[in-house]
Amino acid sequence: MPKIILSSDGSHTLISDEFNVTYHSSHGSIQESNTVFIHAGLDHLLSLGYEKISVFEMGFGSGLNALMAYLWAVEHGCEVQYTGIEAYPIVPEMAGQLNYIEVLNADDEARIIFQKMHTETNFKTPVFQFNKVIGFVENFDVKEEFDVIFYDAFAPSSQDHLWEKDILQLMFGALKNKGILVTYCAKGAFKRTLKDVGFKIEALSGPVGKREMTRAVKGDF
Ligand SMILES: C[S@@+](CC[C@H](N)C(=O)[O-])C[C@H]1O[C@@H](n2cnc3c(N)ncnc32)[C@H](O)[C@@H]1O
Repeated sequence: MPKIILSSDGSHTLISDEFNVTYHSSHGSIQESNTVFIHAGLDHLLSLGYEKISVFEMGFGSGLNALMAYLWAVEHGCEVQYTGIEAYPIVPEMAGQLNYIEVLNADDEARIIFQKMHTETNFKTPVFQFNKVIGFVENFDVKEEFDVIFYDAFAPSSQDHLWEKDILQLMFGALKNKGILVTYCAKGAFKRTLKDVGFKIEALSGPVGKREMTRAVKGDF
């Protein structure tokens, strides 16, 4: 079972005993999620005029990215359809000990939504549709469904195969035309594989502690 630890921005993260790695940057879980997934993903699509956004998250984990996406949908009044996949779900009791609601200063409704993300596999609010798949991304073969992929696998040093061609081809297929994949990883080999698969890539400034992150586009910018 993972253990809860504090990251530098005061928000919790988890450390996996199985993979011996943290779920988020030690420089701050919330600041990482905000920079990589919310800003480079959702804010970017909103700036392009999207009024409804379908998200696929590889590695639902603690549910922080999903919670941040829910809060973003409420703030912007922009509908988000969220599908997260997770092979090793944490137990709801552990999710209940995470301090995200307090650190984000979110309300009781958000607290209930965050609990539901860990106890239910799907639910809907006026702006947020949630769907959780318990399983391995290796078996997730859907076609042209998503506007954005939050690619939040453990780093290549822990799970190399999740950054290789087979899986990235699946991710490419799961995106609609003009869809984007955002991730904290900016390794050269990973970016070359993205190009091989057919993505165009942009190097963006990374979250605190990382010079770069990656946004990959299916089709033209
Ligand atoms: C970096 S953590 C994700 C952090 C998460 N996005 C969050 O907000 O807390 C990577 C996640 O991928 C999950 N995972 C590892 N291998 C997987 C696989 N083959 N398929 C699906 N999920 C996997 C891990 O259990 C872990 O929860």
